[in-house]
Amino acid sequence: MKILVIGSGGREHALTWKISHSKRVEKIYALPGNSGIGELAEIVDIDASNIIEIADFVQKEGIHLTVVGPELPLSLGIVDEFNRRNLKIFGPTQKAAQIETSKVFAKEFMKKNNIPTSGFKVFNSAMEAVNHLKSVEFPVVIKTDGLAGGKGVFICKDIKEAEESVRTILLESKFGKAGEQIVIEDFLKGEELSFIVISDGKRALPMATSMDYKKALENDEGPNTGGMGAISPSPIISEKLFNEIMKTIINPTIEGMRFEGKEFRGVLYAGLMITPSGPITLEFNARFGDPETQALMLRLQSDIIDIFEGSVEGSLFDVETKWDDNVSGCVVLTSDGYPGNYETGKEIDGLKRAKASASEIFHAGTKFENNKHFTSGGRVLNVCSKGKTMKDAMEQIYDSIQFIKFDNMFCRKDIGGVK
Ligand code: GLY
Repeated sequence: MKILVIGSGGREHALTWKISHSKRVEKIYALPGNSGIGELAEIVDIDASNIIEIADFVQKEGIHLTVVGPELPLSLGIVDEFNRRNLKIFGPTQKAAQIETSKVFAKEFMKKNNIPTSGFKVFNSAMEAVNHLKSVEFPVVIKTDGLAGGKGVFICKDIKEAEESVRTILLESKFGKAGEQIVIEDFLKGEELSFIVISDGKRALPMATSMDYKKALENDEGPNTGGMGAISPSPIISEKLFNEIMKTIINPTIEGMRFEGKEFRGVLYAGLMITPSGPITLEFNARFGDPETQALMLRLQSDIIDIFEGSVEGSLFDVETKWDDNVSGCVVLTSDGYPGNYETGKEIDGLKRAKASASEIFHAGTKFENNKHFTSGGRVLNVCSKGKTMKDAMEQIYDSIQFIKFDNMFCRKDIGGVK
């Protein structure tokens, strides 16, 4: 089979790596890819948002299956375009991807289907939003309705911060169309868990559980990021909690989406808060988590192509997954300035030695020029490993990281609770 992977992050490198282990795969293409993905796949110079050109390329090359990593092409309707042309693609349609691309849709869908989520109200008028803020308990969470590249969520500790966020989004229109509506929701306390399933529209095949570390700094301080590290499984999962999540969140979501005529095929990633009163949905994503996927792929023992095909063809019932009993972890190395404006173009040294001692290094913001690797993004590399215990996995990861050098490199030292 010929496979195309769309995306350029650590998530897509981990997916490409796993795909490359399938006996069914002869050739992998990737766009736009990164320097690590380029060691496993032929890099194609087409932008991930150019869905017509991508579909033309897939038709011309006779590619059997396309795997979409990020949300942007999904939000632009790449799956709909491929379906019109009878091309196989793994992911939800534009309508189904609304579960991630519109926070207003997702919250109203959850309310209608009795899926546990925090209390919320939707506004498009700044005056009404500010009026509402006079009667809420702080902190509150304010979210833009649409995609905002991970920057559209504000946790506001008092009315001053909340009014500032409302002004930025609704009056200054800093997020354009994505910020025409906002959701103001109750802040939840508890422990976060990433619950990722693959669906074929009817069934949900759970992946192993995981958790990510969203804050930039140790002890969960500093601004939110795309994720500074991840571990699998989640340390707080139990059989009882797993069954409760499937019963109260995952199955009603798959059923509810089908009922609305938005059958969901692809990755459904529920970001959950585990509270004393049970699991509550913070958000849904219509794609794999990054960096959770890096930790998951290390533990997945089944052929990932069977899983993707089961989702696309509606035959997930026949697919089983096997997971390594070892635990896994991933630590993200970032450029100075991330998650704000960050440096790029720094030469990366020591990758070969680090790779010899860690299980895998997945690239994110890297580029390869004149036989050297350089930084090209905020999140640069993902150093990942497995072990019998989280301590074993993490020690191996941090030992490998010591070999990697680029100017002003940063990573959290407390991923996996090991310091
Ligand atoms: N790690 C969070 C996300 O992928 O959205």
